[in-house]
Amino acid sequence: MQMAWDQRYAQRVKRIQGSAIRELLKVTEMPGTISLAGGLPAAEIFPIEKIAAVTQRILEKNGGQALQYGLTEGYTPLRELLADRLQQEGINAGPDNILITTGSQQGLDLLGKIMIDAGDPLLTESPTYMGALQACNPYEPAYVPVRSDEEGIVTDELEAALQANPKFIYALPNFQNPTGITFTLERRQKLIEIASRHGVPIVEDDPYSQLRFEGEPLPSLLKLENERQKGEGHTDQPYQGNVIQLNTFSKVLTPGLRLGWVVAQADVIRKLVLAKQGADLHTATFNQMIAYEIARDGFLEEHVPLIRQTYRERRDIMLAALEENFPDNVRWTRPQGGMFLWVTLPEGVDAALLLKDALEYRIAFVPGEAFHPCGGGANTMRLSFSNAKPEQIDEGIRRLGRLLHAKLARA
Ligand SMILES: Cc1ncc(COP(=O)(O)O)c(C=O)c1O
Repeated sequence: MQMAWDQRYAQRVKRIQGSAIRELLKVTEMPGTISLAGGLPAAEIFPIEKIAAVTQRILEKNGGQALQYGLTEGYTPLRELLADRLQQEGINAGPDNILITTGSQQGLDLLGKIMIDAGDPLLTESPTYMGALQACNPYEPAYVPVRSDEEGIVTDELEAALQANPKFIYALPNFQNPTGITFTLERRQKLIEIASRHGVPIVEDDPYSQLRFEGEPLPSLLKLENERQKGEGHTDQPYQGNVIQLNTFSKVLTPGLRLGWVVAQADVIRKLVLAKQGADLHTATFNQMIAYEIARDGFLEEHVPLIRQTYRERRDIMLAALEENFPDNVRWTRPQGGMFLWVTLPEGVDAALLLKDALEYRIAFVPGEAFHPCGGGANTMRLSFSNAKPEQIDEGIRRLGRLLHAKLARA
């Protein structure tokens, strides 16, 4: 008998849907197509030789441990090293405040698992990282979207949104995926102040802060929350703040190692550890040891500037090409770091329909609507400048410009 699988799946699977866009974007693998769609780092600058050397050393010296089961919390020396870095920033965190995850994407899933019941309000920027929506959707939150402008989340609209009493606020303060926007210091401070007054936790997703190629670095929400706490007299206690930070090696080393980490107060970490045990027992010990060996000898301090330089050059080429080739009534962001920028087309132009035509011109981007938790943004798109080569970026934007001129003239 043929199995009626639809009757076997859990209700929550209805919330896990493939997208027509994902199907469309599969053709970007065709030769000749320039993709500005995927959020991929530049593979040609991955430190392959360094990773090979470190891998060899680990296998020779510590192969048994590298290939054995490990602690769910993560490889202790790596957690200690990450905690030391937080201490250097003035945040009183120890290894008990850190959980190593299988990419920061797993951090999002685990937070959904431990914090969201069906129907719970969840406050997000709109637009926001699509992968966070995918991670949370199965737990069936009711999204409370808050607009962003060029200074970040619009904090003046937060008070009203917080009346819904969301389980947490999900925020991306640095070079946001998808818009490339960075919260100003004032917006960061207001966000911390308002969230604390309402007693609502903030999940700060921060994969891109190291990739700043312009302007002054700004304090993380974690750091500001730590200062707020110190101001309340909690000076030498371990970190007890309301900010949970997600971080990752994906953008400063390689995404294929699948290594991220969560920083939070110890009680939250303990709950996440239990949830992670059921998911994958622990993140690959071997990969954690590789990242530890690479990070401890200061290699990332040498390597990250190369990533910044590469992406800065690509961003500049993309901005120049947009200026030269896009119609006057199209707007875009000018990110000071990260991997993405965001284009707003005139009202009424549907970026998803435009993508179908763009693929005929052999150029791909991600239409913006899917980044909006409650819909909207049909006239927006995300362009990535990290992965395509400079000449491809220039040619890709030219092609897109030709298409837009033709479309908008007809409209
Ligand atoms: C905002 C944001 N969060 C999380 C992730 C997931 O990254 P990873 O699981 O590789 O750490 C990404 C990846 O692009 C991202 O842009």
